[in-house]
Amino acid sequence: MKKKIACILVAIMALASLVACGGSASGETLVMATSADFPPFQYYEGDQIVGLDVDIAKAIVDKLGMELEIEDMSFDAIIPAIQAGRADFAMAAMTVTEERMTQVDFSVSYYTGRQVVIVSEDNSDINTPDDLEGMSIGVQIGTTGDILSSWEFGDENIQRFTRGMEAVQALAQGSVDAVIIDDYPAHEFVNAVSGLRILPAEWLEEDYAIAFPQGSELVDKFNAAIEELKANGTFQEIVDRHIGTGTD
Ligand code: ARG
Repeated sequence: MKKKIACILVAIMALASLVACGGSASGETLVMATSADFPPFQYYEGDQIVGLDVDIAKAIVDKLGMELEIEDMSFDAIIPAIQAGRADFAMAAMTVTEERMTQVDFSVSYYTGRQVVIVSEDNSDINTPDDLEGMSIGVQIGTTGDILSSWEFGDENIQRFTRGMEAVQALAQGSVDAVIIDDYPAHEFVNAVSGLRILPAEWLEEDYAIAFPQGSELVDKFNAAIEELKANGTFQEIVDRHIGTGTD
C-alpha cells in the first residue's frame, strides 16, 4: 500500500515538474502552427522549415526573449489547433477574414497577398476570372482561394487539395482547369512546374496576420515587436531576403 502511494506521489511530482517547464515565465518556448507548403512564406529546405513567416516569427520571439518551436500541419487544421490552445500562435500567410476573426485573435497585418488564377500555358479559353464559370477549379482546402471560388463559382466546381502544390500538379496533369491561390506562392509553383501561366487579373488584396487563441496576452506583445522590427529595418531585411523584386 505504502509503496503504491509512494509511486503515485513520484508520478505526480514528475507531472508537476513537466508542467512547470511549460510554464509562462520568460525563457519559455512558443509553439507556432504553420502549414509548410507555401513558399516563400513557409516551406521545407531539407528537413528545416524556412521562409519569410519563419524569419519574422523568429525575430519576434527572440525580441520577447523566448524560444520558437514550429509545428507543421495542414492549413485547415491550424485554426482548430489555435482554438484548442495546442499552439500559441499561427503564422501561415493567413488572411484576416471576418469569419476567422470570430474564431481567433489577429495581430496587426504584416504583409499583403492577392488571389490569382493559374491556368495551363496552352489553354487560350481562360483569360479573365469570368471565363472560369463552369470550369473545374483546384484550391487548397480551407484557404481564402477555396472560400472565394466556392462562393463565386459554386461548390460543385471546386476540387480541394490538402496542399497548394497538389492542386497545381492536378492542373499540370489536366484534372482541373485552373487553380486559385495566393500570388507569391503561385509564382513559385509556376516556376517549379512547367507549362503553366498566371492570369494578369487580380482579385482583392488580402491582409496576412498572425493568429492567436482568443484573449491571448501575446497579441499586444507581438504587435509591439512587429512595430519595433519595422522601425529598425529588420522587417524589410527579412522581406528582401525572401521576396525578390519583380514577382509581377
Ligand atoms: N492566404 C490564404 C488564406 O489565408 C492562404 C494561406 C495558405 N497558407 C499556407 N501555409 N498554405 O487562406
